[in-house]
Amino acid sequence: MARPKVYVTRQLFKEAIDLLEKHADVEVFEGDDNPIPRELLLKKVKDVDGLLSLLTEKIDKEVFDEAEKLRVVSNYAVGFNNIDVNEATKRGIYVTNTPGILTETTADCAFALLMASARRIVEADKNIRAREWIHAWGPKMFIGADVHGKTLGIIGLGRIGTAMTQRAKGFNMKAIYYDPYRREDLEKELGIGYTPLDELLAASDFVSVHVPLTEETHHLIGKEQFSKMKRTAYLINTSRGPVIDEKALYEALKNRTIAGAGIDVFENEPLDRNSPLIELDNIVMTPHIASASIETRTAMAVMAATNLVSVLLGKEPPNTVNPEVKAVRKK
Ligand code: GLV
Ligand code: GLV
Repeated sequence: MARPKVYVTRQLFKEAIDLLEKHADVEVFEGDDNPIPRELLLKKVKDVDGLLSLLTEKIDKEVFDEAEKLRVVSNYAVGFNNIDVNEATKRGIYVTNTPGILTETTADCAFALLMASARRIVEADKNIRAREWIHAWGPKMFIGADVHGKTLGIIGLGRIGTAMTQRAKGFNMKAIYYDPYRREDLEKELGIGYTPLDELLAASDFVSVHVPLTEETHHLIGKEQFSKMKRTAYLINTSRGPVIDEKALYEALKNRTIAGAGIDVFENEPLDRNSPLIELDNIVMTPHIASASIETRTAMAVMAATNLVSVLLGKEPPNTVNPEVKAVRKK
């Protein structure tokens, strides 16, 4: 029997490629850490059994229409809003993701954004580099907000929201949460109270977003929600950009409806070089790097390869988002 064929849309860690090569003929996009051009993806997907792709690739009906033999799309991310899962399921194609291993790393980054925003770390660093540190010390120099003792409102109490709650405890913060699916099991375990969204916005000093992007969560935080937040509050987002209405975020920051924000994800990535957000002092921005530690990015690659290989071997993948595919494939 011919060896299965696999296409990987980005240069990845060797551990993952080695694993794939044990079971398949593997081709990797040669681009220098650039997303694969759409036309090339459409061409490459034609005769492969497995595709390992990134959140920068939109895997939609058009891609599936080209794919004659595809059995699995392995997403190198936990979020899979870039994939039309219904379309995959209809065709008996598994979609897999990388949950769990990036939880703590992502929460570390969310907390770093929270701290950096509250304590104006980036502005202060810029001040020194601009050689503008003129007075030795001042009572009001880069004066920010306390973190300890404050209330952290978690929107989305999944794995990452839970990890964020644990960090809040270490800083003697009070944590409350909102989630469309109430998690009574976790409420006891974490000592965290469920709070309707509007109440959470009104009560929190920091609001941190940890929901997946779906039709329901698109623009979950917009003008109306900002108006309910404290003027002294900060918004942290490490989930997906479109969960927040970015125009409304800009207005809220500019008009000081809220005090600041720490943002890792944007409505359009890369962020437009002319984005007005860049002009603001009260926002700390990072380019979608929340899971970017060497340990986690390597583990994600191995997990994505493992998921893909298990489908090639006729097994159910360990991390699938559409397990119902099994029934479709049996028909
Ligand atoms: C990154 O954003 C991920 O979803 O893993
Ligand atoms: C995503 O991994 C989450 O459950 O928060």
